[in-house]
Amino acid sequence: MTSQIIPVKPFDAVIFGGKGDLAERKLLPALYHRERDGQISDPTRFIAASRSSMTDDEYRDFARKALNEHVDKKELESEIVDRFLRRLSSVVIDATSDKGWSELKAVLADAEDDHIRSFYLAVDPSLYGEIAKRLEKFELISANSRLVMEKPIGRDLQSARQLNDIVGQYFREDQIFRIDHYLGKETVQNLLALRFANALFEPLWNSAHIDHIQITVAETVGLESRAGYYDRTGALRDMVQNHLLQLLCLVAMEPPASVNADVLRDEKLKVLRALSPINAANAHRVTVRGQYKAGASSGEPVKGYLEELDNGESNTETFVAIKAKIENWRWAGVPFYLRTGKRLAQRMSEIVINFKPVPHSIFEKSAGLPLSNQLVIRLQPDEGVKQWIMIKDPGPGGMRLRHVPLDMSFAAAFNVRSPDAYERLLLDVVRGNQTLFMRRDEVDAAWQWIDPILEAWEETRQPIKNYTAGTWGPSASIALVERDGHTWHDGEG
Ligand code: BG6
Repeated sequence: MTSQIIPVKPFDAVIFGGKGDLAERKLLPALYHRERDGQISDPTRFIAASRSSMTDDEYRDFARKALNEHVDKKELESEIVDRFLRRLSSVVIDATSDKGWSELKAVLADAEDDHIRSFYLAVDPSLYGEIAKRLEKFELISANSRLVMEKPIGRDLQSARQLNDIVGQYFREDQIFRIDHYLGKETVQNLLALRFANALFEPLWNSAHIDHIQITVAETVGLESRAGYYDRTGALRDMVQNHLLQLLCLVAMEPPASVNADVLRDEKLKVLRALSPINAANAHRVTVRGQYKAGASSGEPVKGYLEELDNGESNTETFVAIKAKIENWRWAGVPFYLRTGKRLAQRMSEIVINFKPVPHSIFEKSAGLPLSNQLVIRLQPDEGVKQWIMIKDPGPGGMRLRHVPLDMSFAAAFNVRSPDAYERLLLDVVRGNQTLFMRRDEVDAAWQWIDPILEAWEETRQPIKNYTAGTWGPSASIALVERDGHTWHDGEG
């Protein structure tokens, strides 16, 4: 199976925070991969804008190290690395003053008037407004300019609105690309193919046939180097408000008429608006907050959350489980169980669609009970889809029923490298395709559902449940689904 490479038009990408962690781990490796696949045309340039003084050569050294560290050795080809590095330059800029902006303007002035420019904000959101303001002041925003915003977009509805208002003063909505990198993951896009390019699933995709749905994004990492950010944020804001809700939208939305950005985002928005409210009256029943204590990860002892923090005291959740409901015709009565956490037993993200059991078994008791069909969509690792069905156990011995997966592992089936989410998203910015980016009203609607949960936790002082690092979270999360007669699908199949 070969992939199809369609080069994009030449562009200039200015990366604010070009020397930061995101640029190093994700953006530079993603752009290199696109270069290697021949998708980047001349005279494309990548300009790192950062506060620290750096020559072009120093930045190229930084980028070379980033590639050596974050790109598979087999994929590093010296000629391509050199070609990629030649596209890089560095501008010293202060987002909070006018320092360096004329220099950036001079660099960009070399290009044609209709040249595509993307301004990537890989900096603290408190700087988004300052940067947008100066881009306007120094007349750097052309009709073909785009602004790329990383999460977090606010920490509640009000702050998200403020942020969106500020950038909205300088950029039109069709120029603003709000990244949720989960939307760029291959299997997430595959969810669209699975649902809407197959006739098989859609007739069954509703409360008449689906019993419940689970969405898990489990991580084994702890705080990494982001203690400050994470402790102010917590799992609900860091993961549920964006990644998990976006997955939920793609699973639950009505079939859009096309993949046109607004058509698709209209459907996602309807799902967010149909989420049943969670507030002080029900939060204790349908949400679980957890925090890890010392345990083990991949066989190695690891510290607890509080020990990882300097102050040793925190009420921030590193785990959340939620029983969500969507109040519409399609999903009435179908629980959506969402779960995410740090320092869990496995790194694993998956969506599990649990179908209803057959209404009546025609088989003898000795054959065993027909188990329900399950569709497991694995986002990472080992991307793929498994459809669990019942078959007759082969061979003699009478009728014995067995639950087996029709297993499609994408890596094994296609033998291609699965591109990182950023590779797709960065080039979609250049193409001006917003389908896989969040629209402003979606961000608002997500906060509108999240804010009352945060308020309820605060108001009712909902206790945080401890869990041992390396497990599947607090026992209260297991109880949340067991009360409804279910069990979490813990990635075992
Ligand atoms: C980020 C969160 O958005 O997603 C991180 O801020 C989290 O806390 C990360 O670790 C997970 O992304 P991925 O692609 O590794 O699953």
